[in-house]
Amino acid sequence: MLNIVILAAGNGKRMRSSLPKVLHLLGGTPMIERVVRTSQTLTQNTYIVHSPQAQQIQAQLQNYPLTWIEQTEQLGTGHAILQALPQLKAQTSGQNDRVLTLYGDVPLITPQTLQHLIDQTPTDHVGMITVHLADPTGFGRVLRDHNGHICGIVEQKDATAEQLTIKEVNTGIFLLPLDYLQKWLPQLTNNNAQGEYYLTDIIALAVANNVVITSINPPHIEEVLGINDRLQLIQLERYFQRQQAEKLLCAGVTIMDPERFDVRGDLQCGTDTTIDVNVIFEGRVTLGSNCIIEANCILRNITLGDNVHIKANCVLEDAVIEANCKIGPFARVRPGTHLAANCRLGNFVELKNSKFAEGSKADHLSYIGDADVGKHVTIGAGTITCNYDGVNKYRTKIGDGVFIGSDSQLVAPVSIGAGAYIAAGSTITADAPADALTICRARQTTIEGWQRPKKNAG
Ligand code: UD1
Ligand code: CA
Repeated sequence: MLNIVILAAGNGKRMRSSLPKVLHLLGGTPMIERVVRTSQTLTQNTYIVHSPQAQQIQAQLQNYPLTWIEQTEQLGTGHAILQALPQLKAQTSGQNDRVLTLYGDVPLITPQTLQHLIDQTPTDHVGMITVHLADPTGFGRVLRDHNGHICGIVEQKDATAEQLTIKEVNTGIFLLPLDYLQKWLPQLTNNNAQGEYYLTDIIALAVANNVVITSINPPHIEEVLGINDRLQLIQLERYFQRQQAEKLLCAGVTIMDPERFDVRGDLQCGTDTTIDVNVIFEGRVTLGSNCIIEANCILRNITLGDNVHIKANCVLEDAVIEANCKIGPFARVRPGTHLAANCRLGNFVELKNSKFAEGSKADHLSYIGDADVGKHVTIGAGTITCNYDGVNKYRTKIGDGVFIGSDSQLVAPVSIGAGAYIAAGSTITADAPADALTICRARQTTIEGWQRPKKNAG
């Protein structure tokens, strides 16, 4: 049985933040949540070692089945795992119980790499992930004997000048048989430069007990990089976004500039869709094929059908937009919007909690809120649904084939019958019948021979 222990008791001072370090976002998700999701793909048994100030972290992760282990004082990584030992022992299956160590601040480790470590490590070996770094400063160095077998790890602060030249470093990700861990953890001492109980000293203990250390390397160094400050966070963010962009490019999506592309959630995308610069996708977004998303758009929890064209500078949230719709530039689509196929929203049009049936359009400067709009409706420039009386909200119903003249106000609750024609500038407060012209404004008069006022003398 595989157990995963995620270490997250460190305080992350270098973020200079009131938010706990592991709650800072990477790709729109708190970094520790990424680690937890990765862990869940491998086992149901995930433990998190946390400091006494972890309420925010626990709140963020409350929907995951996790065992929380408090480490009252941060006395080192070995001490941290030791805190989890009683719970680990209590839940043993008796069969190949192993412990995999992960870190709340190493967000991009993948299930594939961890599975590879598991597959490569016989159940009576110790497994670990190492990497070679051009600049290994700060990391524990991996010591190998003359046969090339791993024989220990020495921390930066304890290393000799010669050991400091070693480029192979410890990532901190270990796969350890639980019964060995039970034997070795209590043997760790804090007799070192930092006065900490180092988990890394386990390796020398394993070697002393003739246990073989198996190591693998990850396919990308970024998978095992930890985050200590905002500079490192943004570097990993750019790597992560670049990777997402490359996956989409390979899947047949054109991304005009992968350096100006951000997915902070989950993006599914059909082929031959083009995404211009500075488009941000948040939450769950699904784009059809042959869509065009022009520059500077934000799409949050959006589903687009095929051939949808979102012009520049649009903000769309919690909406479904079916095939062949055209939106923008400068449109705002708010939650609860559903556009059937072939609809059009133009500049400075705002929709909220409104449905358009097929082929309807609002091309300029409108607010349409809480409305049910039929097929092939034309909503003229400046139309406003007055959906709110200051206390309650009401719906506006517009039948098929209606024409709403420019600068009309529809005071809800109100219904416009199919085929009705509302004259420009009308304030509609009562239902308008089908197939008729409704006009509600003062009649135009002209005063012949009228004199302009003259300026008074003196
Ligand atoms: C550790 C490793 C080092 C490795 C590096 C990789 C040890 C002794 N050293 O060093 O070999 O190259 O990670 O990044 O393990 N933590 C706790 N409780 C503690 C101490 C730490 O939960 O008492 C957590 C921290 O929150 C962090 C992780 O363990 O997520 C690593 O701790 P940190 O102090 O950053 O270890 P390093 O000195 O970086
Ligand atoms: Ca660290």
